[in-house]
Amino acid sequence: MEEITDARSKSIGIFDSGIGGLTVANAIQKTLPNEHLIYFGDTAHLPYGDKSADAIRFYSLKISKFLLEQNCKMIVIACNSASSAAYNTLLDFFEGRTLFVNVVDPLVSAVTDKGYDNIGVIATKATIRSNIYRDKIKHRLQKANVQSMATPLLAPMIEEGFYQGNISHSVIDTYLGRKEFAIIDALLLACTHYPLIKNEIETYFNNKVAVLDSTDVVANAVSELLRKENLLALERTKKNEFYVSDYTKSFEDTAKVFYGEEIELKTANIW
Ligand code: DGL
Repeated sequence: MEEITDARSKSIGIFDSGIGGLTVANAIQKTLPNEHLIYFGDTAHLPYGDKSADAIRFYSLKISKFLLEQNCKMIVIACNSASSAAYNTLLDFFEGRTLFVNVVDPLVSAVTDKGYDNIGVIATKATIRSNIYRDKIKHRLQKANVQSMATPLLAPMIEEGFYQGNISHSVIDTYLGRKEFAIIDALLLACTHYPLIKNEIETYFNNKVAVLDSTDVVANAVSELLRKENLLALERTKKNEFYVSDYTKSFEDTAKVFYGEEIELKTANIW
């Protein structure tokens, strides 16, 4: 009995290449306020979107080891680039030692459950190159026509605070104005930075395209898995912790925008 109580009160580890995954952390916190979160942003190595799959796997293994040392009952890979490159490796490497949740599967389930015919996917180069969304969507919904596009300007643009303005409108118009995207019924925002421009994208499509991101769907997946494993925390007794591998004041300022409230970033030297 005592053992079950201990396991429930362990933390949820969450990681991303930087601060984009804070959009997912915030959704998890809202859905599961009793849970204690430990966030790790690998700011020393961002962007992951331009890295090789091997490099992303190496970073993800090291970060997961750090989070496991902090006693995490679950690790959420709050980055599409890392979810596509490293999820299977992490499952194999840490088998039986913790639970893993990626951000790809919940989004794929959400869009295929609705049965859309024409689905667009925008993400980093690493995620698009992996073909993970196309393959998983087609596996669940054969009739789907999937249009994928790497949109590498979007993440740095958002991090620099250029959204809801002329610059973001122009970048979004240029990317989404491509003719393959004229027929889509649903668009997946397959990068954890993009929830910050969700409204702009919905407006771009005159609210006629269903725009899905990986915040609430991932929080629900986390909640379901913890419930199934009887690992939901009963109460939170300490403050959430937020680590980065390379601290700057500007990351801390931007982190607030992604998380939706003021947070204190601490440095964790894991490299
Ligand atoms: N947040 C990362 C993702 O979801 C993208 C940012 C990066 O390239 O590091 O893929």
